[in-house]
Amino acid sequence: MLHLFISLLTFFTWILFSEHTYLAPEHFSLIQTATANNDSFSGSIDCSKVKCIALTFDDGPSKYTNSLLDILKKQWVKATFFVIWANIEHRESTLKREADEWHEIGNHTRNHKDLTKLTPEERKQEIETTFKKIFEVTWVSSFLIRPPYGRIDESILGEQYGKIILWNVDTDDWKSKKIDTIVANATNKIQKWDIILMHDTYQTSVDAVPEIIKKLKKDGFTFVTVDELLSDQTVNLTKKYFHGTH
Ligand code: NI
Repeated sequence: MLHLFISLLTFFTWILFSEHTYLAPEHFSLIQTATANNDSFSGSIDCSKVKCIALTFDDGPSKYTNSLLDILKKQWVKATFFVIWANIEHRESTLKREADEWHEIGNHTRNHKDLTKLTPEERKQEIETTFKKIFEVTWVSSFLIRPPYGRIDESILGEQYGKIILWNVDTDDWKSKKIDTIVANATNKIQKWDIILMHDTYQTSVDAVPEIIKKLKKDGFTFVTVDELLSDQTVNLTKKYFHGTH
């Protein structure tokens, strides 16, 4: 009889403590905090409240892209890569890595030709084959297009293959190939909602990135993808990104 009593007591004690362990309110709040942090990591940053900017890299993937991805990973920074079909051919794993590490992928056409000098049929080929390739490699349906040289005209806009994304901070990284100049161009006049243009096809561009991130984080900016930037309804898209002055 006593044996049964002790067993029952042990059983109810276990119930009592396990209830306490699993249902205490402080544990609920821990779960909520974890969920909230996870949400902000997976892309629900509110750009109407924080100083969002987007780092964009054109012309890759290249042999320098993996070291850039290492830097971005270390710094917890997300970027947007506008890739060229012809460069994906031998670097599919690099493109896959970009997508796997939560960066955004955009279309920089098949062969980097000036779209305004092509026929509608040729343009369609340049853009659609690249979207298809991006999907085949990453399983991501991209909808962003950065026209080579930033060249667009009314007919391209009318064809509506996707959202045309230009830029408003040009680092001229391909021109100077000097780290200090690239850092200065990227950081000196930057404002909330800016889109920074760089190229992951030069060692010096990649080498400038840690300092750019350090400076801009210090000034209170948050790095987001172009899609996250566009999700802020207060951004004047038409003026700022579709018909940029560069
Ligand atoms: Ni380009």
